[in-house]
Amino acid sequence: MDRIVIEGGVPLKGGINVSGSKNAALPIMAATLLTENGCELTNVPELVDIGTMSKVLESFGVEIFREHNRLKINTAGVKSGAAPYDLVRTMRASICVMGPMLARFQKVVVSLPGGCAIGTRPINLHLRGFKALGAKIELGNGYIEARARKLVGAKIYLDFPSVGATENLMMAACFAEGETVIENAALEPEVVDLANFLNSAGAKISGAGSSTVNIQGVNKLSCHKPYKIIPDRIEAGTYMVAAAITGGELVINDIVAEHLDAHINSLKEAGVEITPAGRGLKVSLPDGRHPLNLKTHPYPGFPTDLQAQMMAMASVTKGTSLITETIFENRFMHVAELNRLGASISINDKMAIIEGVDHLSGAQVMATDLRASAALILAGLVARGKTFVRRVYHLDLGYEKIEEKLAAVGARIFREGE
Ligand code: EPZ
Repeated sequence: MDRIVIEGGVPLKGGINVSGSKNAALPIMAATLLTENGCELTNVPELVDIGTMSKVLESFGVEIFREHNRLKINTAGVKSGAAPYDLVRTMRASICVMGPMLARFQKVVVSLPGGCAIGTRPINLHLRGFKALGAKIELGNGYIEARARKLVGAKIYLDFPSVGATENLMMAACFAEGETVIENAALEPEVVDLANFLNSAGAKISGAGSSTVNIQGVNKLSCHKPYKIIPDRIEAGTYMVAAAITGGELVINDIVAEHLDAHINSLKEAGVEITPAGRGLKVSLPDGRHPLNLKTHPYPGFPTDLQAQMMAMASVTKGTSLITETIFENRFMHVAELNRLGASISINDKMAIIEGVDHLSGAQVMATDLRASAALILAGLVARGKTFVRRVYHLDLGYEKIEEKLAAVGARIFREGE
């Protein structure tokens, strides 16, 4: 297993180019299952999760050719089948092949994804929506089987604006007879990107990005030109924190600023200066930072995927910061690891109370999930001495070339085999 070694203390300076969005690319790759002959996707990040989704699609007879950030996906030979446990357990997002496979073949078998480090991650809203469209759902031996004689448009209300459920049901409804309305849908930019991709292939989806999405069933979908994935707002937000926590100055390129409104507001409240620059945003810290008071919410609220990163910054910000996690039930595993670096963080139910300390000290720490790993890297950038982040395979799931991008702006960071 690899580990990443960081020697803290360098204010980062320079430009960082943001890669394509993992959480947009994954559902869009699944959506190619709906198209006659497949598609070409560009600005696809080179990540382990993208590789896993490719394997899931290949298990259904799809041919995929990857050329750096370009994926050529041929779905002419796609056939009904089952997404195997050993793939689904490594990437929960595999569950988003259910919608397209059900729409195309009226049958799909997928391993139950199980939970993960940050929570039980149920899929009840996905399954309830499939049933509303006319599918029969059977669970057994750790697998889910969904079947339908045909899918008929329906009105579906989501108890929670689930990103995955909105995406899965949007795809399932593409060929359903008549109109489907998803109410209390997720508003995330990745949901909008999926709808834009589907519409570019001939779908009839309106309202994506609002809490009511309308899908008119069509007969088929086919791609006519390459589709470019939107930039990764969470990667961008992570590097914005890197500038703020090290007291440096970074220009974060190729981002869509409005996808980060809540994060930008929180950083500005903390004393960070953020101004438009070139192809992106310049992030710097003119004076001292102020403590945070954050609460995660579904988009456009503060994103849960940037919670751990902001906690790393709060741990070395003078004063008491409060961070409340409302989306996932177990997304504070980075607290114990940050405390190993000398942070002073306590947890009271869904709230973390962070007493800013003068400095962190390097130590061995363990990555537990994707965004917690990023938080430990950020903490290592300011900790005195060396920090060893172990189990960095978590990081590789969602951050393309993170140590190269950070080293290019001055960080003393490298990867080594353990
Ligand atoms: C997506 O996960 C993202 N993953 C997550 O990013 C992100 O944290 C999450 O949305 C919230 O923004 C991808 O897009 C691949 P949800 P998803 O369904 O779709 C509950 C990362 O770090 N829920 O919006 O799984 C669920 O338990 C990852 O990149 C149900 O109760 O998230 C959770 O509490 C981590 N029943 C809440 O909704 C369901 O059927 C949000 O989940 C579905 C969800």
